Amino acid sequence: MATALTAREFRNALGQFATGVTVITVEREPGSVFGMTANAFTSVSLNPMLILVCVDERAKILPMLHKKKSFGISVLKHGQQAVSEYFAQAEQHSEAEHRLGLHYRWTPEGVPVLEDTVVQLSCTVVATHLAGDHTIIVARVEDAEIPGGEPLLFFRGEYRQVAGQ
Ligand SMILES: Cc1cc2nc3c(=O)[nH]c(=O)nc-3n(C[C@H](O)[C@H](O)[C@H](O)COP(=O)(O)O)c2cc1C
Repeated sequence: MATALTAREFRNALGQFATGVTVITVEREPGSVFGMTANAFTSVSLNPMLILVCVDERAKILPMLHKKKSFGISVLKHGQQAVSEYFAQAEQHSEAEHRLGLHYRWTPEGVPVLEDTVVQLSCTVVATHLAGDHTIIVARVEDAEIPGGEPLLFFRGEYRQVAGQ
């Protein structure tokens, strides 16, 4: 008989799937941005153009996403581990952002995205689905800027880079 999978084994198993690293950004007050690092991001549909991101039920950003219904997604570049770690913590303030050299750009839809990243998407929430301890946010992509560059990768719980750099 197969033994039950433990949470650690589950994380370990899913960690074998290499991903990029994104930062979801939402305007929490006029001119002020809150972000969250997320790698549970994927494309969903071409027509209409949909993506999804899975957000922890306890994440501070979740009520903001429900309220604003629009958000940015920026795909981090190789070398931006500190940016990933910064947006994985709840305390965010402008001095730290200044130190990290972070700059936001507002898209034509009025959504903040992170400059100096591989790609920046402007998204509108079209559906939310509660799934276990996460909410799947399905969103339409309104706009995309592709500055390009090499991506930051996440694999087996560690940051990596594309080989050959
Ligand atoms: C590389 C990386 C990927 C992450 N991916 C996700 C994700 O896809 N969804 C999610 O809810 N949290 C993800 N997290 C955790 C969040 O960034 C954040 O730490 C957590 O939701 C707590 O947020 P809060 O302190 O703002 O409530 C990730 C963290 C890291 C470092």
